Amino acid sequence: MTRHFLRDDDLTPSEQRDVLELALAFRSDRYIRTPLTGPRAVAVIFDKPTLRTQISFSTGIAELGGFPLVVDGKLAQIGQRESVADTAHVLGRQVAAIVWRTHAQERLDQMAEHAGVPVVNALTDEFHPCQILADLATIALHRGGTGRLAGQTLAYIGDGANNMSHSYLLGGATAGLHVRIGTPEGYLPDAGVLADAQRIAAETGGSVAVVHSREEAVAGADVVATDTWVSMGQEEQAQLRETPFVPFRLDAATLALARPDAIVLHCLPAYRGKEITAEVIDGPQSVVWDEAEFRLHAQKALLSWLLERA
Ligand code: NVA
Repeated sequence: MTRHFLRDDDLTPSEQRDVLELALAFRSDRYIRTPLTGPRAVAVIFDKPTLRTQISFSTGIAELGGFPLVVDGKLAQIGQRESVADTAHVLGRQVAAIVWRTHAQERLDQMAEHAGVPVVNALTDEFHPCQILADLATIALHRGGTGRLAGQTLAYIGDGANNMSHSYLLGGATAGLHVRIGTPEGYLPDAGVLADAQRIAAETGGSVAVVHSREEAVAGADVVATDTWVSMGQEEQAQLRETPFVPFRLDAATLALARPDAIVLHCLPAYRGKEITAEVIDGPQSVVWDEAEFRLHAQKALLSWLLERA
């Protein structure tokens, strides 16, 4: 049966480990697998802005021997000019896989239901699972391998209701991490996602917690992460979304609460002086450039893994 990667828990803990191992292997040798040799095409569709994702998927697909067909969602108008299901049938007859950045998760689910080829979530309003694969691979790199992931404490401070928070919960729990979300009241993660993460954590030995102070979230953490307070599509609420998050800014004083060897993650783009200070993101504990590079390796690993099972 065709496998998809629509949300982080579409991979079991052992499958996630295999993909992360492969991501680390791709970092050492970019051409260890070329499943798209032909070249076979992969559709990479964007209904929202992009830079890292377009570059990393395009580069990755080319390095896998394939051809990236980047589609501007504004031109394609999926769901407007024709239904998501009809688009899925058309694409599925031609390309090896479909990578899609869109708004509602439901659109992605429909694409997966009808495409007949692997569908990958390149960010939705609800999840950003490819980013979490890159983050986990980065943590593994800095902590001595995937075997060291379980038991690490990851603190994410900022918008608890956004795609990164949800993906840290699900993907982190799958890896056996202790995930602490530090977020203001009123920005809680989706209750269903939290429950799913709790269930997964119970199996992997990890844990998940939502707290309302940065101190509680960050104290003793091995990894500290944050994300923009204003996600794509929320630009009109920018003013409104500033004040509640100021107490959750990742600054030097906050980072000092974590373990002395804690590493700092940010999915980028970063807004220095807002969710993170320049001192922290440009400081010695920041590994954000490794993290950005791992988008390439992790997505190649994921695509290879999915194509082997398609
Ligand atoms: N939460 C952010 C992530 C950007 C990679 C957004 O959705 O805009």
